Amino acid sequence: MKNPDYDQLISPSRRNLMKFAGVGALGAAAGLAACSDSASAAATTPATAANVTAPAVNPDGIAIMSANENPYGPSPMAVAAMSKELNNLNRYAYPLTQAFAAKIAEREGVAVEQVLVTNGSSPILAAFSDYVNAKGGEIVTSAITYEGVPRVAEQAGTKVVYMPLTQDLGYDLEAISAAIGPNTGAVYICNPNNPTGRTIEPAKLKAFIEDASSKVPVFIDEAYMDMADDYPAGVMTEFVAAGKPVIVARTFSKIYAMAGQRLGYGIMPADMAMSMRKTGRLSAVNHLGLVAGIASLDDTAYFNDMRLKMIKGREKLIAMANDLGRPYAPNPQGNFIYMDLGMNNQEFADKMLAKGVKVVGSRWSEKPEWTRICVGLDHEIEKCHAAAKEILTAI
Ligand SMILES: Cc1ncc(COP(=O)(O)O)c(C=O)c1O
Repeated sequence: MKNPDYDQLISPSRRNLMKFAGVGALGAAAGLAACSDSASAAATTPATAANVTAPAVNPDGIAIMSANENPYGPSPMAVAAMSKELNNLNRYAYPLTQAFAAKIAEREGVAVEQVLVTNGSSPILAAFSDYVNAKGGEIVTSAITYEGVPRVAEQAGTKVVYMPLTQDLGYDLEAISAAIGPNTGAVYICNPNNPTGRTIEPAKLKAFIEDASSKVPVFIDEAYMDMADDYPAGVMTEFVAAGKPVIVARTFSKIYAMAGQRLGYGIMPADMAMSMRKTGRLSAVNHLGLVAGIASLDDTAYFNDMRLKMIKGREKLIAMANDLGRPYAPNPQGNFIYMDLGMNNQEFADKMLAKGVKVVGSRWSEKPEWTRICVGLDHEIEKCHAAAKEILTAI
């Protein structure tokens, strides 16, 4: 039997779009007008940025530098918009989902049918793995990358072919290209890569996608792309807009600090998006996440401020690694560094936790002496630095 909500979700009605097109106006009513030009963006900067300082940290006082979150908290405009919406949570958010998808379609230059909205981007990664599994074929990716696609794929019985990283811990696109063959069902690229933070030179990646997407679907995970020095040079949306079998996934968990609130999206060929929706596994998108996401997109000042904060944060982490005399994956572009500890990473993580700092332990088995450390508030980075110094100088 057909689910009426499903119909509503996949065929946005003009009436619903009109009804919710003014969600930005919701913020406006609270004195948080959407910035329509740079002058108004500048005008909102001081108030917005001033509010974006150290929110409540973990009550246990533990510096959480293990999950690549944004420690500064969400946009004040997002918080205000969510607060205003609290009494409406009895409603499913289908019309809001449509409004959000329409906003994304406009920003990304694709049709609204090409936008798949989910609770964080993890469901898109998993849905893509299932999609490949249903079609058949192996997934080619890099050793030491984000597990979202490969792990779900392997659980479903899809073979994943992992190509080794280059000497300087980058994606080896030549090797990945060479590995694409008759058995390949898709390619997964994480750029910037988690955990290494390495990016692929835009021209090189474009040439790769051009070629690879003529053979198989190519998934580009851009979870951290907006933190890259040369953003938006590395954004690969153009291939989706051109109708290639390319999927670009984004999340509001990172730069928009909504990891706990959950919102993400993927842009892809319309038939692929339809196929993923039809499985019914993606569920409805959370109401407050959509409200916060729409408000966040309008808060240009917040976005710019967070970009700077993430870049400054990773520079502090690099300075820490240099001071500790530890090698790290060069030129990281996310909100984290990948560092060679010279000791077992789980033992290091346990010792760090005992000193009140949480970092990744034994997650990527290929490198048992490397860990990923992400940006925290300034005092947390200092705490991490001091703790790491004590531990690493004792070995
Ligand atoms: C590269 C990458 N992609 C996707 C995700 C999924 O994030 P979320 O489900 O919170 O959107 C993460 C989370 O850490 C990530 O690092």
